[in-house]
Amino acid sequence: MKRIKDYLSGQPEKDVVVKGWVRTKRGNKNVAFIALNDGSTINNIQVVCDLQHFDEALMKQITTGACLCVQGDLVPSLGSGQAVEVQARNIEVYGTADPETYPLQKKGHSMEFLREIAHLRPRTNTFGAVLRIRHAMAFAIHKFFNDKGFFYLHTPLITASDCEGAGEMFQVTTLDLDNLPRTEEGKIDYSQDFFGRQTSLTVSGQLEGELGATALGSIYTFGPTFRAENSNTPRHLAEFWMVEPEMAFYDVNDLMDLEEEFIKYLVQYALDNCQDDLAFLNKMIDPELIARLKSVVSTEFVRLTYTEGIRILEASGQKFEFPVAWGVDLQSEHERYLVEKHFGKPVILTDYPKDIKAFYMKQNDDGKTVRGTDVLFPKIGEIIGGSEREASLEKLNRRIEELKMDTTNLWWYLDTRRFGTCPHSGFGLGFERLLLFVTGMANIRDVIPFPRTPKTAEF
Ligand code: 4AD
Ligand code: MG
Repeated sequence: MKRIKDYLSGQPEKDVVVKGWVRTKRGNKNVAFIALNDGSTINNIQVVCDLQHFDEALMKQITTGACLCVQGDLVPSLGSGQAVEVQARNIEVYGTADPETYPLQKKGHSMEFLREIAHLRPRTNTFGAVLRIRHAMAFAIHKFFNDKGFFYLHTPLITASDCEGAGEMFQVTTLDLDNLPRTEEGKIDYSQDFFGRQTSLTVSGQLEGELGATALGSIYTFGPTFRAENSNTPRHLAEFWMVEPEMAFYDVNDLMDLEEEFIKYLVQYALDNCQDDLAFLNKMIDPELIARLKSVVSTEFVRLTYTEGIRILEASGQKFEFPVAWGVDLQSEHERYLVEKHFGKPVILTDYPKDIKAFYMKQNDDGKTVRGTDVLFPKIGEIIGGSEREASLEKLNRRIEELKMDTTNLWWYLDTRRFGTCPHSGFGLGFERLLLFVTGMANIRDVIPFPRTPKTAEF
């Protein structure tokens, strides 16, 4: 079945059928022009109706949001807006949309209002564009890794371990919350829970990803991850998608090369394959979008240690909401100062203090820092978090002890270091953070179809 995108880029032809939703209808007493959209492209096809051939009752049903099946001929357009249009012979109204109650009328709506009708917002130009770009980026991610010989590994969503150790997990249980089974000490008896233990939704597929990398060489996972952090910001979701490659035999420099190549590939893919949607977003949402995308693919990212980054921030004379000093976790205001004000391009920060990073990162000889890398982007702040992994069982165990971590559920992870351990590295790219950058949208709630944030799980 041909779609509107095919017709718009094709040649005039007789006897075509187009189906889609009405965006607008205008005209006079002799002729009506209907702009029809089927989601295949941001562009509408113009349907021309000679009103002599259509009865008034039918035309009345054709209002914004109605769904139509139009039969006619695809002919060269006399108007200036399009090369071809459909001269309608017959119209079937699949579904009407009452103008009194259909919320998406012609006028522009605020993003906040559109979030309240997230079930309908994919029918707007903006969300259509964002969702098509989202698809293109997901496809490009698989293509990038497949072309490099990485294997797509499906890591579990339900887990008994906390990869990041931040305790921000959503519990998964089938226990009766009104009548919890208790042990003799009065604790909840998870042995009676579905999995016979306490389980949660995963915050990251990394730990299982490392199992894959130490067998298949290079793998990636790409799936939903969950964080029960109470962060109400334009950059945090409780459910977001993460791309996590993990590579045996990569050191931290190989890792940074891959991070940079990967993001540039995705941005270039969008520039090459999403032109109409990007042009629309550039016009309506962010006039610097396309220029910013082009600048990222053509510039070399800055690589700098955390310690040097702190020095620059301290010397900046800038008043930050959160004061800077060696050892603090960088806030988005700090990251954006480095990227937007100081360097004017993406920055990869390395060698973070071990106390603000997760247990698995490779320890440097200074005893204070680890081989973590965060990729910082204009407008976004952190877009990637990654590291070389600690390959030594002894060092890893020592760190685990320092952090007083419970290792009962990590024995299998430690086996990677016990049997044939190897240097390896990996990273996690927040898929929605990438989409914020590529679409120019300002709020992460507007680059995922149905956002989950504190106190919101509608749709
Ligand atoms: O820096 P994070 O927490 O790193 C990890 O989870 C590692 N296990 C990844 C790895 O090395 N395999 O998260 C990685 C990325 C962040 O850089 C950010 O882009 C995104 O995930 N992210 C979020 N995106 C949206 N909402 C949130 N609440 C996010 N938390 C992290
Ligand atoms: Mg991080």
